[in-house]
Amino acid sequence: MRTVIQQLEASKIREVANAGIGRADVLAFWFGESDEPTPTFIRDAAVESLARGETFYSHNLGLPELREALSAYTGRLHRDVPADRIAVTSSGVSALMIAMQALAGAGDEVVVVVPVWPNLTAQPAILGAAVKTLALHPSDGAWKLDLQALLAAVTDRTRVLLLNAPNNPTGWTLSRPEQEAILAHCRRTGTWIVADEVYERIYFEPGQDSPGVAGASGARACAPSFLDIADPDDRLVVAHSFSKSFLMTGWRLGWLVAPPTMMEALGKLIEFNTSCAPVFVQRAGLAGLARADEFIPALVRRLHVCRDTLVPRLAALPGVSVATPAGGMYAFFRVAGQDDSLALAKRLVVEVGLGLAPGAAFGAAAEGWLRWCFASRDPRRLVLGVERLEAALRL
Ligand SMILES: Cc1ncc(COP(=O)(O)O)c(C=O)c1O
Repeated sequence: MRTVIQQLEASKIREVANAGIGRADVLAFWFGESDEPTPTFIRDAAVESLARGETFYSHNLGLPELREALSAYTGRLHRDVPADRIAVTSSGVSALMIAMQALAGAGDEVVVVVPVWPNLTAQPAILGAAVKTLALHPSDGAWKLDLQALLAAVTDRTRVLLLNAPNNPTGWTLSRPEQEAILAHCRRTGTWIVADEVYERIYFEPGQDSPGVAGASGARACAPSFLDIADPDDRLVVAHSFSKSFLMTGWRLGWLVAPPTMMEALGKLIEFNTSCAPVFVQRAGLAGLARADEFIPALVRRLHVCRDTLVPRLAALPGVSVATPAGGMYAFFRVAGQDDSLALAKRLVVEVGLGLAPGAAFGAAAEGWLRWCFASRDPRRLVLGVERLEAALRL
């Protein structure tokens, strides 16, 4: 087997979850998903599709009607994007892998801003690329980008700059001026930007930067996106997912927005990876998009309550540093004197039945931190979780 594959790290979140196996009383906040199932109107569309017998292979780039619907949805949030720049994929993670397969090969330099969801650093490494990380830095519990350091790290030798904002796990979000500076710099160096914007709708600050956005409570609230400022021919690929804003983690449906010249290659890569997303899953996605402007703001309002239930309670615990995340669905925090996040996360499961993700799962820059997914149907679970954390820290 290739050495790079042998050297891939096993999931540290899984390692913590394994420490809780067999315990029914664990309050689990370790994975990046809500405990709320996909809404019925979306599930019904898949059931109806299956009942019609839509069980066959389909277009590589997705059903034309889904690509049209995604084009309309994107155009309501950002600059217009025609359907022929959209590729439907079998999940956000597959979208990101396909983008990376298209852009980075053995020895190519890929710069990744970290801490980040580990798949993003693993994918270019699997392809043999040289992954160079640029760390955000914590300040009063919030994670900040040193823009000058990032621009210095991206040179004309950099093939791809990989950014995830709103960020999993830190909640860090790129500002519009930062995006503009990064885009201008990457135009100069000839670097591709791969922007993982799967959390763009899970955004709690007024989105005054996006055209037509009415603020976080509006139907189209959205984090600043590279799609607001880039031209169609820019070296930009944006990855998206139905998982988070449509509560569809288990369905495996995502999409890419890419320049027109890349679409043929993406079609071939999809053919060789998965061939197509299942039609009944795409029908479910279409049903979700039809009601996105009503469903997503309501979901974000619920997540807002969750965030505002959890973060102040965490902040009130002695020794805890945490900032209120502008986007995403995670509280990322650390406890003074606790530097081994894996050991602490395992202890929390074993001693008090609290399931959190260790910062170490998101790279060395996040060691000592813990990630808490606050997407929960019942915010009282979060209150109970904080009580368990408090009890453990007293032990
Ligand atoms: C930052 C980030 N990008 C992409 C994904 C991929 O989502 P999915 O593969 O479920 O579409 C996730 C899921 O956790 C994520 O956190």
